[in-house]
Amino acid sequence: MTIFVHIINILIFINYIKMKQICGLFVASLAVLASCAKQEPLVIAPCQIWPDNNGVHVNAHGGGVLLHDGTYYWFGENKCDTTSSAMVGVDCYSSQDLVHWTNEGVALAVSDDPESDITRGCILERPKVIYNEKTGKFVMWFHLELKGRGYEAARAGVAVADNPTGPYTFIRSGRVNPGILPMDLDNEEAKARLAEIDYYTYDESKNPQAEEWWTPEWRADVDAGIIAERDLEGGQMARDMTLFVDQDGKAYHIYSAEENLTLNIAELSDDYLSHTGKYIRMAPGGHNEAPAVFFKDGTYWMITSGCTGWAPNAARMFSAPSIMGPWTQYDNPCRGENADITFGGQSTFILPYGDNFIFMADIWRPKHPSDARYLWLPIQFDENGVPFLEFMEKWDLNTFKAVTE
Ligand code: DGJ
Repeated sequence: MTIFVHIINILIFINYIKMKQICGLFVASLAVLASCAKQEPLVIAPCQIWPDNNGVHVNAHGGGVLLHDGTYYWFGENKCDTTSSAMVGVDCYSSQDLVHWTNEGVALAVSDDPESDITRGCILERPKVIYNEKTGKFVMWFHLELKGRGYEAARAGVAVADNPTGPYTFIRSGRVNPGILPMDLDNEEAKARLAEIDYYTYDESKNPQAEEWWTPEWRADVDAGIIAERDLEGGQMARDMTLFVDQDGKAYHIYSAEENLTLNIAELSDDYLSHTGKYIRMAPGGHNEAPAVFFKDGTYWMITSGCTGWAPNAARMFSAPSIMGPWTQYDNPCRGENADITFGGQSTFILPYGDNFIFMADIWRPKHPSDARYLWLPIQFDENGVPFLEFMEKWDLNTFKAVTE
């Protein structure tokens, strides 16, 4: 009889434990469900209209994003309905989550003074802002073309502000590093090579009988630095650009130089307001525009585009062990349908987001510039850690994966 009672007690105890486990599991599942319910999806929908807090499509093209004190600030070109010239200036938007954007107004306004470099009607493109820890200032660099001169000025402009949203004060514009050869041409061997080339034959303004571009000989001469040398006195041309702040706080200005044939990576001064004279050439003769850079696990990555005006083309990708190179070229990082035209977009910036990275690109609408769209995609990595991009109609910032409804 007592054995029977013991058995009953043991069975009751086992049941009690089981019930406890089941209840535990139930409570845990409820908690998971509740936490899932709490995590709002943060959906990015490339190519769509992105309304700001006023319900108006965000107007910040060719731009970049700065994370400062927990807030994201998006700076970009204000585009009008009928012209790509700068009629307003650089717009700024702020956000806590990269999905909901508040219009903070014009950060850098074009000038009403016809004598100003940034007079209304100039071309002011691809503004980027970085924060200088030492000075406590926000520094904006951009590509500037003087009004009425097409794209021939090829200048870099700089402006500064005390607050992220501005107003930014324009400081100056100009070609970059006049009188200074790039580090990789500043050696006896390179100088001797350059001395052998008659670069006037490649400069129509100096020689109307200029030889044809794109011949193998011309390519070899460009590679050797003939256009960098041509521009030595007045400074290097500076068109499409980005900024990058390295781990040690040094900042770099990366821009299309040499008639868009070669990228330059130029170190900025400690206050980020000028160039130090230290710069390298990257992918000479490679015809790269729209540079965007990020750093991951000891490697610097750069995604660029080719040069086809407002029309999309295949992206290019490079990596390097140091921002100053040497840079190695990879295949087009885009995969799938429309990979050969970067899904219709052109790179502008790469934004770190936790341990992840967001590829930001513009889908230009040259006939209706203000209607240009944004192509933001998660950067994915293959088994060798090489970045790649796939188009997603909608994706979630929480998971960095496509949203499937
Ligand atoms: C391509 C550049 O990336 C844009 O910023 C702009 O300059 C257009 N070319 C103009 O055609």
